[in-house]
Amino acid sequence: CAPAAALNDSPGPLPDHADIDAWDIKDRHSISEHLPTDPYPDTAAHYSTAAQWLKRPAEEIIAEIDAAGLQGLGGAAFPTARKWQFTRAAQGEPRTVICNADESEPGTFKDRHLLEHAPHLVIEGILIGAAVIGARQGIIYLRHEYQRARAAITKALNKARADGVLGSDAIGPGHDFDIELFISPGGYILGEETALLEALEDRRGEPRHKPPFPTTAGLHGGPTLINNVETLAAVSTILARGASWWREQGIGEHAGLKYVSVSGDVKNPQVLCLPWGTTVAEAIEHCGGMADNRDLLAFSPGGASTPFLPASAAQTPMTFDDLRQAGSGLGTGALFVVGTGRNLAEVLLGQARFFRNESCGKCVPCRVGSNKGVELADAALNHQPNAIDAELAELHQTLMRTSICGLGQVALLPLVDGLKRFPDEPSLQPLRGQTPEAD
Ligand code: NAI
Ligand code: SF4
Repeated sequence: CAPAAALNDSPGPLPDHADIDAWDIKDRHSISEHLPTDPYPDTAAHYSTAAQWLKRPAEEIIAEIDAAGLQGLGGAAFPTARKWQFTRAAQGEPRTVICNADESEPGTFKDRHLLEHAPHLVIEGILIGAAVIGARQGIIYLRHEYQRARAAITKALNKARADGVLGSDAIGPGHDFDIELFISPGGYILGEETALLEALEDRRGEPRHKPPFPTTAGLHGGPTLINNVETLAAVSTILARGASWWREQGIGEHAGLKYVSVSGDVKNPQVLCLPWGTTVAEAIEHCGGMADNRDLLAFSPGGASTPFLPASAAQTPMTFDDLRQAGSGLGTGALFVVGTGRNLAEVLLGQARFFRNESCGKCVPCRVGSNKGVELADAALNHQPNAIDAELAELHQTLMRTSICGLGQVALLPLVDGLKRFPDEPSLQPLRGQTPEAD
C-alpha cells in the first residue's frame, strides 16, 4: 500500500467525509515496485464489509481472522483471533470493545495516520468486534494531543450514526450499539491497557496486575476486547478482501501488511505501509536513504522498548520473529534510525530518561530503580567515567523481575543491551569507566 504523507508535508486542511471516502491509495503509491497496490477495501462502499459479515456466524469471522494469521499490531503480537475467541467465550456484563488509540510510544505515529485518513476502517473493525463478543458499547480511547484524529473520528462517527451504521439495531434487531470517543487524560502509562481501564473507570491511571486479562475481567469487571487501531483496521481489510489475499501481501512466507513509522536520520521520515518481510534496509531506502551523508550506525525497530541493533543487522526482515531472533523486536513498528556521528550513549540515556519520567510510581523498583539507573549513567557520561555496566545490568534484572507492567521491565533494557551489543562504540566507553579518545 501507499507510503503515507511524509511528516514534513504540510498537514493541510482536514478532509471532509467525502474526501475520506475518496481517499485513493493509488495516488500515493509511487515509491517502490515492492509496495502492493490498493490494499484497502473500496472506501466508497462504507461499512459494506460489516453489513456482509454481520449476517454470518461469529465463528466464521474469527476463523477468517485466524486464517489471516493476524497478530496484535499495538506491539505485543498476541494472536487476534484468540483474543476475540477468549472474549466471546467469557461470561458476564457489561461487554465492551475498546480501540486503544493512545499511541504514545516514542517514534510511533502510524495509528495517527490511520485515524486521520481511514477512521471508518477502525469504526468498522470495532463494529465487527462488537458483533462477535456481543458488546453493547464501544470506546475509542484517544491520545489527547491527536487533534486532527479527534476531528476525523468525530466526523466519521457522526456520519456512521446518520447512516444508521451505529445506534438502534446496529448489530441486528434489538442489538443497539454506539461508540464513544474518550480522550485519554494524558501520560504514557495511560495507554497501558489496564491503566486505560482504570482511567475509564475514573480512577488514577495505574496498571493492574494481570491476570485476569481484560478478555475476562475488563471494564467494570466485564469481558472487554481491547485492540490497537491498526489491528482493527486490518480486521476490516482482511474481511473485505479475504484471508488469502491478506496472506499474499507479504513477502515469501510472511503474511500481510504492516504500517511502520520511520524517523531519525533518514531523508524523508514518514509512515510506510509495507509487506511483511520487508527488510530494515529497504524501509530506509523507501524513506530516501540516510540523511546528511551519514552511514547507518544503529537502529531501533519497534519503539523505545526495543533494543538498538547495529548496521550489520539491516537486512533483517521487519517481522516479530525475525527481529526477536536478531535480539530486538518489532514492537510498535517504530523504526528509529541513527546515523554515524551521533552520540549513541545520549540516545540510549534519553530513552531511559523517558521511561523514568513516565513511571507511574506504583512499584517501588520501577520508581526508584529507573531513576537510579538514569542518575548513574548521567553521572558517568556527563561528569566522571565510571564502570557501571554490571551495576546497570543487575538493576535491570531487578526491574525485570519485580515490575508490574512492561514499562518497568524495559526501562533500562536499551541502555543495558546497548552496552553489550556495541562494545566498540566510543560514546559508551564512559559507562565502562574509560575516557573516550578525543577525535
Ligand atoms: P502483553 O503481552 O501483556 O499482552 C498483549 C495483549 O494480549 C493484551 O491485550 C493482553 O491482555 C492480551 N493477553 C495476553 N495473554 C493473554 C491471555 N492468556 N488471555 C487473554 N489475553 C491475553 O503486552 P502489553 O503489556 O499489553 O503490551 C506490551 C506491548 O505494547 C509492547 O510490546 C509495546 O510494543 C507495546 N506498546 C505500545 C505503545 C503504543 O503507543 N502503541 C506504547 C507502549 C507499549
Ligand atoms: Fe507503574 Fe512502573 Fe510499576 Fe508499571 S512498572 S506499574 S509504570 S511503577
